Amino acid sequence: MKIKSADFVTSNTDVSKCPKEQIPEYAFIGRSNVGKSSLINMITGRTKLAKTSGKPGKTQLINHFKINEDWFLVDLPGYGYAQVSKSKRQTFQEFIKDYLLLRQQLICTFVLIDSRLEPQKIDLEFMEFLGENNVPFYIVFTKSDKLKLSELNRNIKVYSKTMTKSNWESMPPYFVTSAVDTTGKEELLDFIDKLNQQVATQS
Ligand code: GTP
Ligand code: MG
Repeated sequence: MKIKSADFVTSNTDVSKCPKEQIPEYAFIGRSNVGKSSLINMITGRTKLAKTSGKPGKTQLINHFKINEDWFLVDLPGYGYAQVSKSKRQTFQEFIKDYLLLRQQLICTFVLIDSRLEPQKIDLEFMEFLGENNVPFYIVFTKSDKLKLSELNRNIKVYSKTMTKSNWESMPPYFVTSAVDTTGKEELLDFIDKLNQQVATQS
C-alpha cells in the first residue's frame, strides 16, 4: 500500500470523543519506550507525525492519524512506566482499556514487544487481558536492528514457548520491525491493506 496522506486528527483520553467516522482503525500498544510512535512514523514515511522520545512516557493520549483519507492509525500511551505516578498510571490503564473494549471501528490491535528482551510479565498480562476480552491482536517485535538475526530468532522462539506454556494454544501471528532500517514496513502495510479490503467487502 502506498501512503498518499497521513494527517493528525485528534488527541484525547475519552473513547466517546474519538472520531465518529466509521472507517477501519488499527492501534499500536505496548510498554513505554517500546517504539510505538516511531513505528507509526516509519510505516507512514513521515518522520514527525507521532512524537517520539528517548525517555519513556512521551505519548500520554489516544492519538488518531488519518491515512489516505481512508483509515485510522492510533498511537496509544505506553503501559508499565514506573516513573509516572500511580494514580496517573491507573488513569492510563482505564482509558486505554475503555478504548480497546469499546471502540467499534478497531479492526486489529498491534501489541509491540521489544525484540531484545526476555518475555516481560506486564506484556504477557496485557495480552491475557486482550485474549479474555476477545480483542483481536497481532504481535510486533520492535527494534530488530539492535540484535543479530540469530538472537532475534532465539528470542522469538523463547516468546512462543513462554506463551504456549501459559494459556495460549500458540503465539499469535507476528511481525518483525525496525524503525531504523524499515524492516517490516511493507508486511505491515500489506496486512492492513488486506484487512481494509475485507472490511470494505463486508459492509
Ligand atoms: P511512549 O510514547 O513513551 O510510550 O514510547 P513509544 O513506545 O512511543 O516509543 P518511541 O517511539 O517514542 O521510541 C522510544 C525510543 O526508542 C526512541 O529513542 C526511539 O528512537 C527508539 N526506537 C524506537 N524504535 C526503534 C527501532 O526500531 N530501533 C532502534 N534502534 N531504536 C528505536
Ligand atoms: Mg509514543
